[in-house]
Amino acid sequence: MTTSDDAPRRAPAAAYAAAAEAAGRAPSIHNTQPWHWQVHPDRLDLFADPSRGLPGTDPDQRMLLVSCGAALHHAQVALHAQGYEAAVRPLPDPDRPDHLATLTVDEHTPVTADAVRLAQAIQLRHTDRRPNVDTPVTAEQLDELRRVAGAVGVDLHRLNADQAAELAVAVSHAEDAAATEPAWQAETGQWTGPGRPAGTGLPPEVIPDRRPQTDVGERDFGTRGTLEVGGGHDKASTYVVLFGAEDDRAAWLRAGQALSAVWLHATVLGLAVLPYSQVIEIDATRVMMRRVLSQLGHPYLVLRLGVADADHPLPGHTPRLSFDETTTVEPG
Ligand SMILES: Cc1cc2nc3c(=O)[nH]c(=O)nc-3n(C[C@H](O)[C@H](O)[C@H](O)COP(=O)(O)O)c2cc1C
Repeated sequence: MTTSDDAPRRAPAAAYAAAAEAAGRAPSIHNTQPWHWQVHPDRLDLFADPSRGLPGTDPDQRMLLVSCGAALHHAQVALHAQGYEAAVRPLPDPDRPDHLATLTVDEHTPVTADAVRLAQAIQLRHTDRRPNVDTPVTAEQLDELRRVAGAVGVDLHRLNADQAAELAVAVSHAEDAAATEPAWQAETGQWTGPGRPAGTGLPPEVIPDRRPQTDVGERDFGTRGTLEVGGGHDKASTYVVLFGAEDDRAAWLRAGQALSAVWLHATVLGLAVLPYSQVIEIDATRVMMRRVLSQLGHPYLVLRLGVADADHPLPGHTPRLSFDETTTVEPG
């Protein structure tokens, strides 16, 4: 549906800058925000920033690439809401693996209400570690989320009850493995503790005040926060896996785009989302998750979907680095 084609138009360079700013709200592993944007008059370049990577937890940069892919898709959504359809060139320079994507825009197109709604969801979206209520995710909602993941080339599989039980076992193995890894513990502490770099990491307000009573255990950040989770559960939650045929940097970047697409649409649908990445980060449990998928493809990320328990206060938004800390604007 077309809402307005005569809204004030930004020149592409201003639209690129606004997109980089909006993309700063993207989700990232431990809220590391491992990206850097370069705004040019004729393009927007996305780079990985390995100085905010997790060399112990994420040595292959899987989760770094998924996080950057989410930021990339946020930028596409922000451009779309300004009337620009972005063309994306992933990994444009084989000699510079940290150059993750180049976005360019062409003609201005009419802005639709759906595009604006999705861009608004960027400001509303958050990770929800509150338990879910008994309202299930509907088949129609799931179809829509599968469709938007598919649009960027990533499959979404809903786990049945047996597979969710296998996920619970894999999560428990992953937590045990992480508990005995000093590098793992150190990195989790670095991004969740009081010494976390300003504008990044997880503040106590988004970390549960006790171990939630869910069949599939939530990630243990090794510290208790102040987020009230009560005695709720995950009986009506839906667990899904984002997966695909490839398992390389391009695929992880696409997985991040799919994560953003699914999460922003879920936000519009009023669904709560919680990623589970520890089972993918650890080699042995990633193999387990591949088996859960019956070898259909490579798992990129597990997500819990559901309706959050509104009796518990909404978690606040996690902090973000400033525009100047993540973006360079190149002169025209
Ligand atoms: C690739 C990726 C993996 C994540 N893994 C987990 C996880 O295993 N457990 C968890 O509680 N949150 C996980 N998160 C959520 C992040 O902690 C969250 O996005 C970040 O703290 C920013 O907060 P926000 O999403 O509320 O803006 C993950 C996010 C991304 C993008």
